[in-house]
Amino acid sequence: MIFTVAIDGPAAAGKGTISRAVAQHFGFRHLDTGLLYRAVGVKGGDPVAAARDLGPADLARDDLRTLEAGQAASRVAALPEVRAALVEFQRRFARSEGGAVLDGRDIGTVICPEAEVKLYVTATPEVRAHRRWLELGGDEARVLAEVKERDARDMGRQDAPLKPAEDAVLIDTSDLDIDAAVAAAVTVVKARLAGT
Ligand code: DC
Repeated sequence: MIFTVAIDGPAAAGKGTISRAVAQHFGFRHLDTGLLYRAVGVKGGDPVAAARDLGPADLARDDLRTLEAGQAASRVAALPEVRAALVEFQRRFARSEGGAVLDGRDIGTVICPEAEVKLYVTATPEVRAHRRWLELGGDEARVLAEVKERDARDMGRQDAPLKPAEDAVLIDTSDLDIDAAVAAAVTVVKARLAGT
């Protein structure tokens, strides 16, 4: 069975948690596409060459989850040649046998417009910054400023900007706990699998 669940949305909205839970629930494979951009961002040197040569060791680094890696990822993600170098791998993953969940910024709009399910997961910048701060610590005001900066860059870029696909189902997690957010996503996928 070819079945793609595309999950897009801004940083720290809950995409990762929802994606992993949905993949586990349905036995689908999961790809966190943000990791690809983070790995390119932290590698240094020419980002286009880094994107073309990306390998398993780059994706296994333990410093990919930091705020700095997120900012570096957001910067290299604005380069069309970097995005182009990563498209094929993501498309193949999305349409591989057995079902796939991909989370990112442009999965439903650019990588897999034919996805069977498209979710746009969002929350207010304040709620998202608070969650990131609980995870990473530091100064909460600075985390909020970085979240807003990253939103502006990801939504404002020319190539594949962050926006909901026209046929995406919106899940606002501002007032939802993890279980409720996952349940909302699972319900949408179940309905599509049942053909309703
Ligand atoms: O989801 P994340 O925070 O790990 O993503 C890091 C950055 O990578 C994000 O700010 C923008 C970029 N990104 C992208 O442009 N397209 C994707 N599909 C995934 C991430």
